[in-house]
Amino acid sequence: MLASRHSEATFMRIMLFSSQPYDRESFTAATLPTGAVLEFQCSHLSLATAALAQGCAVVCAFINDDLSAPVLQRLAAGGTQLIALRSAGYNHVDLKAAQQCGIQVVRVPAYSPFAIAEHATALILALNRRIHRAFNRTREGDFSLHGLIGFDLHGKTVGIIGTGQIGSAFASIMAGFGCQLLAHDPQPDAQLQARGVRYLPLHEVLAQAQIISLHCPLTTSTRHLINQQSLACMQHGAMLINTGRGALVDTPALIDALKNGQLGYLGLDVYEEEAALFFEDQSDLPLQDDVLARLLTFPNVIVTAHQAYLTREALAAIASTTLENIACWAAGQVRNQVQA
Ligand code: NAI
Repeated sequence: MLASRHSEATFMRIMLFSSQPYDRESFTAATLPTGAVLEFQCSHLSLATAALAQGCAVVCAFINDDLSAPVLQRLAAGGTQLIALRSAGYNHVDLKAAQQCGIQVVRVPAYSPFAIAEHATALILALNRRIHRAFNRTREGDFSLHGLIGFDLHGKTVGIIGTGQIGSAFASIMAGFGCQLLAHDPQPDAQLQARGVRYLPLHEVLAQAQIISLHCPLTTSTRHLINQQSLACMQHGAMLINTGRGALVDTPALIDALKNGQLGYLGLDVYEEEAALFFEDQSDLPLQDDVLARLLTFPNVIVTAHQAYLTREALAAIASTTLENIACWAAGQVRNQVQA
């Protein structure tokens, strides 16, 4: 039987925007709320596509879907009452507008912090030991080693910006390599402190670390946290890893720092303008984004297309938590809600 929110309906339509084949697989394998029907849309959610959700009580959205006020108003007019985010981050949702439209917003606060922390580590290892260059070189029959000298991670100082779930998992991995750990977070984690992580003001972490990894949310205060000034605080030749959100960094400032060597290595899984590009095969099209095109010319830069979360375990957890969130909401309970 359907819960009170849907007593007048015979079933609850859930529309997944920006869905990929792996989303279809993980969501159909998970337990559906009673009376729910899943509908998969490849398109991003936008003002142009919002009408597709007409009559869907629940819209299930991902990180590059447009959840601005006009889109939310259009969804509300079509009968949408719940936005179920398939992500932890919710910086792309106009929460005030959602509240005004009577739409509740829920998210998946944690699915696998290990997936993202391990991907950040993969970027560090690949950049340091130039795995991307070695891979191409040996396939061309070039077995020379020039330009491939790395450094021992053991004994190096790693700066972690944001020590929530992902930052903590990352700290454990880096501790395993024998790194010294510094962190910056307005809410220091006592357990990490007990394990030897030292919390310092941001500029001190930037000045002392050879590797800096960003794991804080995108907010008005963290937007362009890494900019021309903060890059200048870093050690010459430092490594920067961003698996958080693209707008945590000022990308043109990164390019300047790469050009003059201030930044020695850059690993990005997120990009400020990724919405127009990531998750799609654009290989037949000329790249229109000149900033990204310039970034991709540097041999000491690796860009992945927001794949840090993409493990089997994380996908299964995203699907099950999202559907549990929806089932709770349908039963009139609040779970994993995000509010303005
Ligand atoms: P969390 O909420 O557990 O931790 C975030 C931490 O950042 C908190 O400890 C918070 O106090 C801290 N923080 C807030 N403002 C800060 C500031 N100005 N400076 C330093 N630290 C600050 O979040 P979680 O789960 O660890 O995720 C972190 C971020 O990772 C998410 O907000 C999301 O943007 C990103 N993410 C990226 C994914 C990917 O696939 N690339 C997947 C999942 C999350």
